[in-house]
Amino acid sequence: MSEKLNIGLVGFGVVGEGVYNVIINTPSLQAIVKKIAIKHPEKQRNAPSELFTSDVNELLYDENIDIIVELIDDAEEAFWIVRMAMEQKKHVVSANKKMIAWHLPELIELQKNYQVSFLYEAAVCASIPILRNLEEYFDNDLLHALSGIVNGSTNFILTKMNQQGWPYDIALLEAQRLGFAESDPALDVEGYDAVNKLTILLKHTFGIDCHPSEVYFHGITKIKPIDTQFAKEKRLEIKLVANTFRISNDQVVAFVLPQFVSGTHPFHRVMNEYNAVLISSGLADEQFLSGKGAGRYPTSSAVLSDLSALRYGYRYEYKKSNAITAYSLCSNYLMRVFISFEEDELVDLNDFENIHLSCKEPAVGYIVGDILVQRLIDATWAKHPAISVIYYPAETKNEHVEYGTFPAALVEAMI
Ligand code: HSE
Repeated sequence: MSEKLNIGLVGFGVVGEGVYNVIINTPSLQAIVKKIAIKHPEKQRNAPSELFTSDVNELLYDENIDIIVELIDDAEEAFWIVRMAMEQKKHVVSANKKMIAWHLPELIELQKNYQVSFLYEAAVCASIPILRNLEEYFDNDLLHALSGIVNGSTNFILTKMNQQGWPYDIALLEAQRLGFAESDPALDVEGYDAVNKLTILLKHTFGIDCHPSEVYFHGITKIKPIDTQFAKEKRLEIKLVANTFRISNDQVVAFVLPQFVSGTHPFHRVMNEYNAVLISSGLADEQFLSGKGAGRYPTSSAVLSDLSALRYGYRYEYKKSNAITAYSLCSNYLMRVFISFEEDELVDLNDFENIHLSCKEPAVGYIVGDILVQRLIDATWAKHPAISVIYYPAETKNEHVEYGTFPAALVEAMI
């Protein structure tokens, strides 16, 4: 690497402009932004006009640029740019979770073939250094489980609705105004963004290569007043949580669902655009990390950290993929869920192994029961927009590793 980090910045939106400001205000980084590629040259920008070009090739083929920082929205265009950049032997820093989740095996191959670094700490939980933590700290310690609040917008919306009584639409508009939401906010509220992040986490936690379409998920759009009322009565919070845990020596379960969390769970106090990750491992036991998961500067902080890591040639080694144990995704796991509905005849109770609680009011009802993840995936009723599916776990340490089902005593105690 030359004396200075010579950067070509692709994208100058919320995060792109933040990264530019951070670079010019961090002299210790010894970095220089050589060129910035943008889509709309007619827009007024807060940087010298000679830096901008609407032709990304000017960056990709500039021999004086060593690093491409890719911060655009469009995942397929981003993949093309990142691939071209690596083929030109440039290191790449990206925050594009969808692009990474959808193309990770190819990106890793490119990184290997062209002997460059491809870093993306900003793509998962923004300011929380979760990927480097999984790669470096949890190098040899056996990981059992990882769960996370990985989408800032949905956590912001749920906080505003449940703590301050804001209507959903206002909370979503505010998440957009503050620059937390995706340009298509359906990606946040319907859970796609969280699934993309969980797909990346699966690679760094258990070495699993999978496509986001293989992970079961619901977002927050189906949460109804009866769900929040149930949560309030039981002093629970509803959070959108990405979960993955080992259920045997070679099998892992993964899903993203709204989840009830009790007052003693560390996620209970994670509010607004904050994200959090809870890791369970053999030696460290439990590790809890929290920090801002969206927004201009928390995301820029992760990009800055990747840029400094390039100074010493850092690369992800994907150590979990080279481990002796090869894990695969499994859906043969009995999970406890809370299901609420407006028309009870839609829910097929035969799909449940056990029903612990049921309640029917004139217009709405709910049940708490144990169901196999695969049954939930296959159930047409679970896809109905008026039916909420909320994960209702027992909160005991390493419970997933020890048991395939919940012990009866715990079930009784929780209801
Ligand atoms: N829309 C994303 C979120 C941005 O709300 O978490 C950060 O990835």
